[in-house]
Amino acid sequence: MECSALYCIRIGYIVTPHFSHRGELLMTHTSIEKKSAIVTGASRGIGRAVARRLARDGFAVVVNYAGNATKAEEVVAEIESAGGQAIAVQADVANAADVERLFKETIETFGGVNVVVNCAGIMPLSPLAGGDLELFDKVIATNLRGTFLVLAQAARQVSTGGRIIAFSSSVIAKAFPTYGPYIASKAGVEGLVRVLANELHGRDITVNAVAPGPVATELFLTGKTEAQIEQLRKQPPLERLGQPEDISNVVSFLAGPDGSWVNGQILRANGGFA
Ligand SMILES: NC(=O)c1ccc[n+]([C@@H]2O[C@H](COP(=O)([O-])OP(=O)(O)OC[C@H]3O[C@@H](n4cnc5c(N)ncnc54)[C@H](OP(=O)(O)O)[C@@H]3O)[C@@H](O)[C@H]2O)c1
Repeated sequence: MECSALYCIRIGYIVTPHFSHRGELLMTHTSIEKKSAIVTGASRGIGRAVARRLARDGFAVVVNYAGNATKAEEVVAEIESAGGQAIAVQADVANAADVERLFKETIETFGGVNVVVNCAGIMPLSPLAGGDLELFDKVIATNLRGTFLVLAQAARQVSTGGRIIAFSSSVIAKAFPTYGPYIASKAGVEGLVRVLANELHGRDITVNAVAPGPVATELFLTGKTEAQIEQLRKQPPLERLGQPEDISNVVSFLAGPDGSWVNGQILRANGGFA
């Protein structure tokens, strides 16, 4: 595994048997180094699938959550029982001190940060005519301020060759009624991603966003009737809701070697929804 010595932890050795020219059995010890990934909002939904997938891809994973410690510890236990490495760290992405601590704990535990995936997000819906400023402020704080704070730390801490991945939404293209605060927050996320990709000129770090269509998680399902879910299920030509793994596959691509030439892009993974 390719890795900067400064930013990797050593997790063990591969022992390779081979024979000398005299036919003696020799063992070569090659050290393996593990990259680390922070996944915010990894206790549930898409973030949970991303944490599991990146662990499977070989990353040591920081499972961030806001309030659901039990769920986050479940993800850690699952990763560990599959032979991976993970820790759970509570942090509200809208809180600057929390986000700073999230990165500090990651560096103290795993020696550095190679990949940051900001999945944390909320989607309460409300029509503009309702003028619900409290709801608007909450959505902007979590989705936009949260992304700003996580990207700012990532810009400082992610090592050379690293990846930064934010979350937008394909619903931007639909402009559905009641999605105003959410769409406003995600439009801001797309702007931040493009700017940061340019600001990291020469650092060999890619910055992208994934913009899913409807995915069957609590965020999407909560507050919707069966009829509304069915109507949205049929919208993409592929006629199904996305599953968290449809999205973690895309994150794995962006975070892995095959995604190295994709930079400053919004990858719309949505079954053709928009
Ligand atoms: N599901 C969809 O249809 C869909 C479509 C397009 C885009 N997205 C985007 O995909 C991302 C993940 O959504 P999801 O569907 O997986 O949501 P979800 O199932 O509701 O999970 C949300 C996650 O975010 C965490 N979280 C919420 N507020 C937080 C905060 N202030 N600080 C830190 N963590 C926080 C939650 O932690 P706790 O468990 O501790 O509360 C949870 O782990 C979001 O950015 C969302 O906007 C989703």
